[in-house]
Amino acid sequence: MSKHIAILPGDGIGPEIIAQAVRVLDKLIAEGLDADYQYAPLGGAAYDEYGHPYPEFTQNICRQVDAILLGAVGGPQYDKLERPLRPERGLLAIRKDLNLFGNLRPAILYPELANASTLKPEVVSGLNILIVRELTGDIYFGEPRGIHTLPNGEREGINTMRYSESEIRRIGKIAFEAAQKRNKKLCSVDKANVLETTELWREIITDISRDYPDVSVTHMYVDNAAMQLVKAPKQFDVIVTGNIFGDILSDQASMLSGSIGMLPSASLNEIGKGMYEPSHGSAPDIAGQNLANPLATILSLAMLLRYSLYNEHAAQRIEQAVGKVLAQGLRTSDIFEEGCQRVSCSQMGDAVLAAL
Ligand code: NAI
Ligand code: MG
Repeated sequence: MSKHIAILPGDGIGPEIIAQAVRVLDKLIAEGLDADYQYAPLGGAAYDEYGHPYPEFTQNICRQVDAILLGAVGGPQYDKLERPLRPERGLLAIRKDLNLFGNLRPAILYPELANASTLKPEVVSGLNILIVRELTGDIYFGEPRGIHTLPNGEREGINTMRYSESEIRRIGKIAFEAAQKRNKKLCSVDKANVLETTELWREIITDISRDYPDVSVTHMYVDNAAMQLVKAPKQFDVIVTGNIFGDILSDQASMLSGSIGMLPSASLNEIGKGMYEPSHGSAPDIAGQNLANPLATILSLAMLLRYSLYNEHAAQRIEQAVGKVLAQGLRTSDIFEEGCQRVSCSQMGDAVLAAL
């Protein structure tokens, strides 16, 4: 059955980096991949065309397709818009609309980029970890919340950490399945010694683990996990955690690999539908200059093939092609170092196509 993909270029460098990923997709389709795609606007581009960052036109397409590939949204020309019309609201709206609760963020350090990391090459070279972060629950959404005044006149701020069993179960399932596709090693991060919410988290993850006897599970407190990520990051393969711990740990882990221009991400729902996008933003400072690194977007396409189109072979082909162009010494400006060849966004696309 043919798979349908929505392509949302977005703003800033979005259209430039998406164009390179689409060339890769075109090649796979020409070689027999059973998929088609259509474009829709999101963010500022959608505001310009439809007066809304997530217009009905885009909603209808995104609800129907199997997977979505997004560039990035936002830009200074939209900063004066009222909040509900800002590009970033389009992103939040689409995540909510499609219930994309499972955020997958790999942190991969290609051996060729070992000097890009701030950690010693021997500590990080070859790093390849996947953080699975719950994206629609936890203290970011829990009620009650707010700032109110106490009887004594002092103000108090409240946020509530909460997870239901079913929320833990569905993110756990995504994490175990991801671990099965990788090295069958999962570390669940919580603070079960202090927080009841995460005591339940640990209990449910332990319970789910019985359905995945081939995956070995460990549990780690979040403070120790932060330490271990810097001390010996290669001990991890897949990490699963809640929204707030995942927010912090995934940013921390992404920086182990040095460049934001290299990092893809996926946000999944229960039926395997996903939105795939680079971890970086729309980089208005370099937009329109053919300078952006398209590799995070091309690697996001690889994730799309793996997690929504269930085509591991095509995903690995793309990842290997990326490794090959790095080994050839080709670098966009963000990852440039002495002795390498500086290339533009589209030249990097040319090289990936050739390596495929
Ligand atoms: P940013 O990630 O767009 O840029 C940060 C720095 O990294 C800039 O110097 C930029 O040139 C560089 N950079 C980013 N991606 C690159 C690439 N592929 N190749 C080479 N260099 C790259 O973050 P910033 O500047 O904080 O935000 C800019 C806009 O993007 C804002 O409007 C923000 O709201 C939006 N944004 C959108 C996101 C999304 O669509 N998922 C995520 C983060 C920010
Ligand atoms: Mg963050």
